[in-house]
This record gives sequence, C-alpha cells and structure tokens, in this order.
Amino acid sequence: MSVDFEKITSLAKRRGFFFQGSEIYGGLNGTWDFGPLGVELLKNVKAAWWRAMVQLRDDIVGLDSAILLNPEVWRASGHLENFTDPLVDCKECKMRWRADHLEGDRCPNCGGELTEPRRFNLMFKTFVGPVEGDAAVVYLRPETAQGIFVDFKAVQAMTRKRLPFGIAQQGKSFRNEISPGNSIFRSREFEQMECEYFVRPEQAEDAYRAWIKERYDWYLGLGMKAESLRLREHDKEELSHYSAGTSDVEFLYPWGWGELEGIANRTDFDLRRHSEFSGKDLSYVDETTNEKFYPYVIEPAAGATRATLAFMCDAYDEAVVNGEQRTFLRLHKDLAPYKVAVLPLSKKENLTAVSRQVERSLRPHFMITYDETQSIGKRYARQDEIGTPYCVTVDFDSLEDHAVTIRERDSMAQERVPIAELVTALREKLET
Ligand code: GAP
Repeated sequence: MSVDFEKITSLAKRRGFFFQGSEIYGGLNGTWDFGPLGVELLKNVKAAWWRAMVQLRDDIVGLDSAILLNPEVWRASGHLENFTDPLVDCKECKMRWRADHLEGDRCPNCGGELTEPRRFNLMFKTFVGPVEGDAAVVYLRPETAQGIFVDFKAVQAMTRKRLPFGIAQQGKSFRNEISPGNSIFRSREFEQMECEYFVRPEQAEDAYRAWIKERYDWYLGLGMKAESLRLREHDKEELSHYSAGTSDVEFLYPWGWGELEGIANRTDFDLRRHSEFSGKDLSYVDETTNEKFYPYVIEPAAGATRATLAFMCDAYDEAVVNGEQRTFLRLHKDLAPYKVAVLPLSKKENLTAVSRQVERSLRPHFMITYDETQSIGKRYARQDEIGTPYCVTVDFDSLEDHAVTIRERDSMAQERVPIAELVTALREKLET
C-alpha cells in the first residue's frame, strides 16, 4: 500500500522511534534522535547486517576504525577535491539549493534569480588540539569506507585472509548536506553499514554482480516486499569518481523510488591512491603465484538509518479490526523492537503477581515489555502499532491452569501454553 509519509513520521515521534534532534532549542536541521523503540530497531537492523555479513561468513571480518582520520586520507580518496555538490543561492530570499535538484533556473521558493553554481564540499571540518590553524584541520568522515582501506594491509596481515575477502564496518558518517530532508532519509549525521570486498581484478565483474543479488536478497529475507524494491544501474555520467560501475538497491518510499543502498565496483582506485599518498605499499602478494597486484574492491554500502526508515515504511499497514481502524507495523521478528509484550488481563493483585513472575522469567531471554494500563484491546493495538510480534496474556484461568495465551500480531491467532514451557515456545516461534 502507498503510505502517507506524515503517518510514519507522526508514529515515529509519538511512539519514540525517531524525532528531531535538539528539539527543545528549535532543533538542528538534519539531525535526528532515536527514542527507546527506534534505538532497538536501528540496533536490530545493524545486528542483522553484521550477522549476515560477518558472523555467518568465513570470508569477511569486522572493523571499527576511528571517525577522525588523518586529513591526508581525504586528499588520497579524492573527497577533498570531488565530494562536492553544485550549490546556488537565491539573490532575493537567500535560500540555498542544490543546482542538480532544481527543475527550472529560478528559485523554487520565491521565483527569484539564482547565483551561478559553485562547488560546495560536503565534509564537516573541525580542529584537533587547541590551535585553530590549517595544520590542525580534520574532517568528520563522510563514509566509513576509508577507514577500511587505510587498515587493509594491517587487517590482512592480522587475519592472514587470502583473496577474496572483505572487511565490514558500521558506524556514524557525517555530510553537510545542502538539503537534508524526508526525515532520516537524508540527514547530516547518519549511520552506514559498509563492506569492502577485495578480489582479483579479473573476478571483479562477477563479484559485483553476485553482491548486487546478495544485498537485494538480504532485504527480502528481512521481510521487505518484492514490489517495494528494485535495482537501478548508474549511467556513466552519474558514477562517483572512483567507480567503474554502481547499482543501487532502490526502495519505494512514500514520495517515490529512492536509493537504499549502493553496490559499487571501486576498482583498485583506493588502494593505489593510499599507497601513493602514504608511501606505504598496499598491494597484495598471491602466495601461490608470487604475483603482486592491487586488489579490486566491490563495495556494498548501505545506510543503517535509511534502512531503518525503509523497513518502517514497508511494514506500515492499516486494517479494520472489530470495526475499528488500526495501525500495524508488520516488522520482521528479528527487527521488531520488542519481541514479546506481557499483558495481565486486569490489574487485580493476584494476576499482577503471576504476570510479574512471567515477566521475570522472560526478560533474560527476550527484549520484552510489560503493560497493564487500559483495556486489553487497547494494549494489543498499542503493541501492533510498534510491531511487537507476540503478546502473552495472563488471565484468571492462568491462576488455575498455570498457562497463558500467546497472541500473534499478524494472524491474531491465539494459543494456550503452560507457563513452564513459555520460554521454549516463544523461542521456537521467534526463531522460525
Ligand atoms: N562508501 C560509499 C558511499 O558512502 P553512498 O551511496 O554515498 O556511498 C551509501 O552512501 C549509503 O549511505 C546510501 O545508500 C544511503 O543509504 C546512506 N546515506 C548516504 N548519505 C546519507 C544521508 N545524508 N543520510 C542518510 N543516509 C545516507
């Protein structure tokens, strides 16, 4: 279904997924805070990626490099020179626009005349140490990738990995976007999940194609609908300065198709450039043939924050239940912020005691929540709206039969399970 974006952002704010950063000071454009539910969802997205990319594979290892890098890194990578957007200012209302996002040649806000485009570097500049001079300038990383290239030789030596192998990293990146927008879709501070997969040059094309499929399938595996996804290959003019080929996994956002993840063939550009600029040889020696060469790199580069938004949009659903319009987040179980909600049928003391016992027995095993306020129907609705896959209801029969009811979010099917078997039953449901 096509979702009204306003409904997603208002749910996100009302229920504590994400909302404007520094809000009490009027906000800071392009920054977002993740609330109690959003931080769980975001962590789950990252954990699912880490599991698929690192833990379930023998050929990829993880890394967590510093956000601040030696500024030479950005000269070598080409970011100081090329990581720019064409910027125009309105001479009347002073609004600033990305020239390549404008349809006409006058200001979309007031129709005023625009300045000639100039190149605006998207990297945030700051200083290390107390002296605000050129010598102390550093940049907040605009991508996690460069930390991987810089450590390539060290990680390869530490792990003794042979080609093909990859290094994966997740973490914050920063871009001084000219026009941040669509909430967390394009922000100035966001999280990326990137892998640099090193291959022999002649294997690059096959690896590039294989990674496009692998990454597309990852979204499907986490419940994303096939009709919400498509692949789009960049044409020559659109390619980044380092790329011999890039394909985007695109998602159908409420405002239309847009990038979710990019898979690029970065060739040997980065390793060559860092060898040249650092004076350290980052080439690779094939142990069997003694051949020395720069590996090619295939890079699946995803946004963790952007994927969080896409999963929410895709899972959003509305349905009429018992004559009432209701909202559902039909999130995959692995992504849902809470896996289980414990709901006593009423606040009567004897029920509360058993319910709290049930809660205590589940808490070490699952991310759970406990809710005893308002009617049971309202509480089911509240859990459906935030994507909780299972509700466990403790009722008056529970005092006699020592059993509880498990209710499933999407089918609303109910099943009676002995409290003694509850952990096993829920684990089975959550793992299949
Ligand atoms: N290392 C390659 C690279 O960074 P990119 O296409 O510029 O490639 C990769 O970024 C992913 O990072 C994007 O597909 C998107 O999901 C996410 N991303 C990029 N800029 C973003 C922004 N301003 N806000 C949120 N996510 C962003």
